[in-house]
Amino acid sequence: MNESNYKRRLEEVKKFLNVNDAKLISHYYVDSEIQRLTEDTGGCVADSLQMAKFGTEQTEKNLIIAGVRFMGETAKILNPEKKIYVLDKDATCSLDDSCGVDDFKNFCDKYPDRDIVVYANTSAEVKAMSDWVVTSSIAIPLVENLASRGKKIIWAPDKYLGSYIQDQTGVDMIMWDGACIVHEEYKTIELKKLIQELGDCEVLVHPESPRSIIQLADVVGSTTKLINASKISKSKNIIVATEKGIFYQMKKLSPEKNFFEAPTEGEGATCKSCGRCPWMHLNTFDKLMNVINQNNEIHLDEKTVAHAKKSINRMIEFEDKYYQKNKRAS
Ligand code: 13P
Repeated sequence: MNESNYKRRLEEVKKFLNVNDAKLISHYYVDSEIQRLTEDTGGCVADSLQMAKFGTEQTEKNLIIAGVRFMGETAKILNPEKKIYVLDKDATCSLDDSCGVDDFKNFCDKYPDRDIVVYANTSAEVKAMSDWVVTSSIAIPLVENLASRGKKIIWAPDKYLGSYIQDQTGVDMIMWDGACIVHEEYKTIELKKLIQELGDCEVLVHPESPRSIIQLADVVGSTTKLINASKISKSKNIIVATEKGIFYQMKKLSPEKNFFEAPTEGEGATCKSCGRCPWMHLNTFDKLMNVINQNNEIHLDEKTVAHAKKSINRMIEFEDKYYQKNKRAS
């Protein structure tokens, strides 16, 4: 889109947010136009933990979440007094979808002596059943802390993130069998070939990727960690194994570097998502301008909100203490 069209859209969005007393909050995976509109209207583009925290600090009555449904639900859980809207209620997540509340309850009932730790990419009902919610940015220290207190863990829903945490911490974890359709598709042989072709390069990998991809990484971490790593990297070539939307922030911070998508297509194979989350890309300008309606508002029952809030707030409190302590130590 040319600059004058962008500026026109920006004025429309500013007016729209102002009239509706709303703030726009977006994930790094949505299309660059929505990320840019979010930043230019004083909103926040962030990883899933920082999106949740930012929402609680806003004075507006309405929050508009550009991301996927569980991110809207998290905003509702933390801000039940506000109206929360998502651009498209069909924007789901394969991890969330893989972990139905009844099946998960049956699974947990088999291990009553374990703490239930769930990834943020789950429904509000699954969060409400859990002891802890975590995002990729805090999962390892939080799980380590639980283990240091002698806890054994049920982990859901991402088996790859779960096995990464287990590899890093050695903690006793029983895993749910879920995966992200984007990260699951990265191909090891093709990634090795690309690394060899480029020579001087750095490989950044989100921990929702399979172990064989993580083993090739120079940096593994949350979307925020990968963006920071791309900025400070000394390499000119950066290979990224996570959703393509993240390139907008990386290129903005380092326009002089070359960014490459980690390969998703093996020889002779076809990929399903090709490094693109089909649900993140349901977030469009037209939907944003029509978002304030009953159909896009997130509604959750009070009991679910109360239970899920406890588990999310435990993570936020843990994160605040963890970073305070580490800041003091550094
Ligand atoms: P982050 O918490 O790293 O932003 O990841 C969210 C997510 O949905 C990754 O697929």
